[in-house]
Amino acid sequence: MRRAAYVFDAYGTLFDVHAAVRRHAKEMGPESTRLSMIWREKQLEYSWVGTLMGHYEDFWALTQQALDTAFAMVPEVDRSYRQNLLDAYWELDCYPEVPQVLKDLKEHGARIAILSNGSPSMLSAATDAAGISDLIDEVFSVDLVGKYKPLPEVYEMVTTNFRLYPEAVSFQSSNRWDIAGATKFGMRTVWVNRHNMPDEYTGYTPAAVLPDLKGLTCLD
Ligand code: LAC
Repeated sequence: MRRAAYVFDAYGTLFDVHAAVRRHAKEMGPESTRLSMIWREKQLEYSWVGTLMGHYEDFWALTQQALDTAFAMVPEVDRSYRQNLLDAYWELDCYPEVPQVLKDLKEHGARIAILSNGSPSMLSAATDAAGISDLIDEVFSVDLVGKYKPLPEVYEMVTTNFRLYPEAVSFQSSNRWDIAGATKFGMRTVWVNRHNMPDEYTGYTPAAVLPDLKGLTCLD
């Protein structure tokens, strides 16, 4: 364990984005999994397209727009679940290993942060609901720069605020494109490949790939 700071992506890495739909999956029926996938894909697409166009709306607005598109694309799922799903997004489950990993890193004296597309209020609600707020030193939201990942300005918030060189920061994300962005910026990156996805963005390779966050403290 040699990095001064350990910075985590939020959605998909610390928090399970599909937990909202899973909570209501039984009543919503078999197409709910497809709805959840499209919801996530559209949420990210809107962040990238908006940033390319020079247009910013916060992640909560994009999350709602993406859910409406998902409902339109999956008419088998009853729209009356809309509010339940949106409410559940404010208290997504964190992955089971997260609290212990953060505790271990903190005990070793590392600084812990989140760097996320999420709005400050979404992130504060999620960390409170998961009971991990006390383990996190800083929460960096893209809201501060008004642009989304993977623009370099977003990763730069961490190095500027912590006064660290990028290589002193270990950045963890389950999103391979996010890992590409942080690697290009110069951070040491760990891809948390939770869903056993094929490698992509091979010009920007992570320093390590883990199935979950458990092995993080064993890395250099
Ligand atoms: C985030 C998105 C990528 O938390 O899920 O930044």
